[in-house]
Amino acid sequence: MTEVIQIEQLVVTYRDVEARATRTAVDQLTFKVRPGEVFGFLGPNGAGKTSTMNVLLGFTPAQGGLARIFGVDVREPIARQRIGYLPEMTYYYKFLTAEELLRAYGRIFGLSPAAIRRRTDELLALVELESARGRLIRTYSKGMQQRLGLAQALLNEPDLLILDEPTSGLDPLGRMKVREIILRQKAAGKTVFFSSHELGEVESVCDRVAILHRGQLRALGTVAEVSRGDAGNLEQAFLRIIGWESPAAPVTAQ
Ligand SMILES: Nc1ncnc2c1ncn2[C@@H]1O[C@H](COP(=O)(O)OP(=O)(O)OP(=O)(O)O)[C@@H](O)[C@H]1O
Ligand SMILES: [Mg+2]
Repeated sequence: MTEVIQIEQLVVTYRDVEARATRTAVDQLTFKVRPGEVFGFLGPNGAGKTSTMNVLLGFTPAQGGLARIFGVDVREPIARQRIGYLPEMTYYYKFLTAEELLRAYGRIFGLSPAAIRRRTDELLALVELESARGRLIRTYSKGMQQRLGLAQALLNEPDLLILDEPTSGLDPLGRMKVREIILRQKAAGKTVFFSSHELGEVESVCDRVAILHRGQLRALGTVAEVSRGDAGNLEQAFLRIIGWESPAAPVTAQ
């Protein structure tokens, strides 16, 4: 069985020109994502989640180790053929409409005009932007832009979805819809790899999670496995793993 994502001893460093130093963002990271899994990639701000995803997408070179997607080294452009990706920050062409944006991406993916029209209709319905399809993206709210980003990520019917904080900026209904979309992908046999700070949603959709801290893997397994020592509470497990200690009980006057 070919792993969908295989990361071994991955190292990502950034050169800090001002401090004349090298900063390690990802430190000897090793884990695998299996076919059909919904995999949650967790860790505090600056843990190295986006840096790892950027290596998978070929945006950032790794300084060490290896990363493969469907068995192909991520340095090969073909590795990205079956991926859909939602970036952490969506910088879309704000002077396009949603329809125009999806058409442009559809052409990049080499879809036929008929396929682009069909997928555009399906996806704008899925993310509930049908009524805003002809509006300039500039006039969209943050959550609307995020939902359009998700539609774009799904356009080429990817076998692997990589989502960097897909529910950030969404209201409770929007979050629920994203959970539904993730589970629908899983039901269709697809693999989903996503980062999130929303531990409740992670618990409800993920088969397995990895917790990263300072670029290093600190926990890997099902939510039950990772939180076993914390009475099944993922938030407590997360806080313990990143080294946070609960304050001592307040002293109360006798
Ligand atoms: N382009 C860059 N140049 C220099 N340092 C960077 C760059 N991108 C990220 N870093 C540093 O690498 C480390 C990891 O950042 P990264 O964005 O991967 O974290 P993250 O886990 O995605 O955090 P968040 O939850 O805030 O999105 C941080 O210390 C960050 O400052
Ligand atoms: Mg990030």
